[in-house]
Amino acid sequence: MSSKPTWEMIQNMLRLSNIHTYYGNIHALKGIDIQVEQGEVISLIGANGAGKSTTLLTTSGIVPAKKGVVELEGEDITHLPPDEIVKKGICHVPEGRRIFPYLTVAENLDMGAFLRNDKEGIKEDIHYVYSLFPILADRRNQAGGTLSGGEQQMLAISRALMSRPRILLLDEPSLGLAPIIVKQIFDIINKINQDNKTTIFIVEQNANLALKAAHRGYVMENGAVTMSDTGENLLANEDVKKAYLGM
Ligand SMILES: Nc1ncnc2c1ncn2[C@@H]1O[C@H](COP(=O)(O)OP(=O)(O)O)[C@@H](O)[C@H]1O
Ligand SMILES: [Mg+2]
Repeated sequence: MSSKPTWEMIQNMLRLSNIHTYYGNIHALKGIDIQVEQGEVISLIGANGAGKSTTLLTTSGIVPAKKGVVELEGEDITHLPPDEIVKKGICHVPEGRRIFPYLTVAENLDMGAFLRNDKEGIKEDIHYVYSLFPILADRRNQAGGTLSGGEQQMLAISRALMSRPRILLLDEPSLGLAPIIVKQIFDIINKINQDNKTTIFIVEQNANLALKAAHRGYVMENGAVTMSDTGENLLANEDVKKAYLGM
């Protein structure tokens, strides 16, 4: 995406500083630094096992950092419980979607709005997500578990939007989906960013699409950030091309 954030949008939204995260003895994040400005789409790419999901899990407080600081607009949120972090406007769509399979599409969306009580706003947002993904409107009374993989991803993103997040964390939105559906989902991710100035932090193995969709990107290897630049420059970088774009 070529449009750059304007000056009034430039404000440090999320900052990870020297983050170390462990699973028992496994040192999954080894001192990473990532900054996300307000209104940006950021993509973090890397091979399987690099630490991408852990980065999001640490940001949302599910697997807290052992060392380092996570800040939301300058406030230290490193050790807040996950539900407090959600309330502050960080909404995490985990890998593998995890919608409620026995609830209908409409009920899943209601669940996304459970922290809100502005009925009118909720109604507006339901219209909005149905306009983004008309197939969900057609299937509104169908159980979530009966949707295709792509439709479940659309529902997972829509449910997250129902909380009116300030930052949307998306873990591998393309995983297991047909290329045409993936393209559609990435187009909508950019539309969400443009419509609402929602800040979006994507982690992806599909480096090509993720970098095309992003203002800036980070490359991660073995729990460390090895490169960061504009999406455009990373797409043109010879090392990135070889390692992640199959060229
Ligand atoms: N629940 C877990 N228990 C132990 N090790 C884990 C767990 N989740 C991830 N890891 C390890 O942490 C490292 C980073 O994993 P992850 O963040 O899932 O990578 P990615 O999302 O980039 O594929 C890997 O070595 C992985 O095996
Ligand atoms: Mg992962």
